[in-house]
Amino acid sequence: MSQPGVENRICALYGVEYPLLMGAITPKPELGAIVSNAGGLGCIEGISTPETLRRQIRRMRELTDRPFSVNFPLAFGKPELVQARVAVAIEERVPAVITSAGSPKLLTGMLHDHGITVAHVVASVAHARKAADAGVDALIAEPTESGGYRGANEISMMVLIPAIHRAVPDLPLAAAGSVADRAGMVAVMALGADGVQLGTRLVATREARDAFPEGAQKLILAADDTSTMSADTPTRPRVSRPELVEAVLGPRGKPMQMGQVAALIDDIPDVAAVFEELFGGGQAHARALADVFARLAAGSRTRA
Ligand SMILES: Cc1cc2nc3c(=O)[nH]c(=O)nc-3n(C[C@H](O)[C@H](O)[C@H](O)COP(=O)(O)O)c2cc1C
Repeated sequence: MSQPGVENRICALYGVEYPLLMGAITPKPELGAIVSNAGGLGCIEGISTPETLRRQIRRMRELTDRPFSVNFPLAFGKPELVQARVAVAIEERVPAVITSAGSPKLLTGMLHDHGITVAHVVASVAHARKAADAGVDALIAEPTESGGYRGANEISMMVLIPAIHRAVPDLPLAAAGSVADRAGMVAVMALGADGVQLGTRLVATREARDAFPEGAQKLILAADDTSTMSADTPTRPRVSRPELVEAVLGPRGKPMQMGQVAALIDDIPDVAAVFEELFGGGQAHARALADVFARLAAGSRTRA
């Protein structure tokens, strides 16, 4: 899809075909392998015991020979446990690590010493600067709409992406969240992102069914624009509201982490169909952009 002379920085960094990073939505490797095989960067959520993580990485390698990442949410688990998981990732020579919910200084140098590409999830310009100072290879920006961890930050995608792009222009930047369709993809690229990290849209795919509790996809399908809120925990992920959980799953239903973008999701497509929607042919993107500019021009004519 790339044009001669135009290099996508996310694709170049990871050696992938499309600038789509899978969010850390499941420790099971099967979905990640499907994303990697489709041309994105699949992900293993690194929250299992070190032994299980080793098995998950090895299974990923059986399922795909393409690049993938392991995500370490640094706030989860005692520091010794996180270090033990990281040691496994190093021993297994994973190509890429994504760190989140903690300091980028903790692991970046050590991972680089072992040739591992490091991206860090940030939720503000100050976080982005710290991550750049720590030497990360890429930034993943998590705005308030997203299903991820933002701490106290509630910065919108419209502000966060351009602000980080201006503050740290030299690092590849992925927009985490809010994207479920082509318009969203075009929008985050227009704001200055080099690509996207998808969470909720990938949870709601046919191949993801076995990776999540039974009600997860039902909650996403039933969600509207008021159905999520920031959880009242220090990392403050976005989760489904209790009213939605009760209405869809009954009084014993469990809330789930999900982004506001759930409001735009009303189907359970194959992963391949998600890639087709987001990247399906430069022509479709060109038409989407031409349409934006045509509507802008029509506005100018009205004023003139
Ligand atoms: C079910 C679920 C679990 C997640 N777990 C993690 C995690 O362990 N670590 C992390 O950095 N992000 C996690 N995230 C955030 C995703 O990696 C991603 O950044 C986010 O979902 C993007 O927003 P979106 O859901 O609007 O696409 C999770 C998201 C979801 C939906």
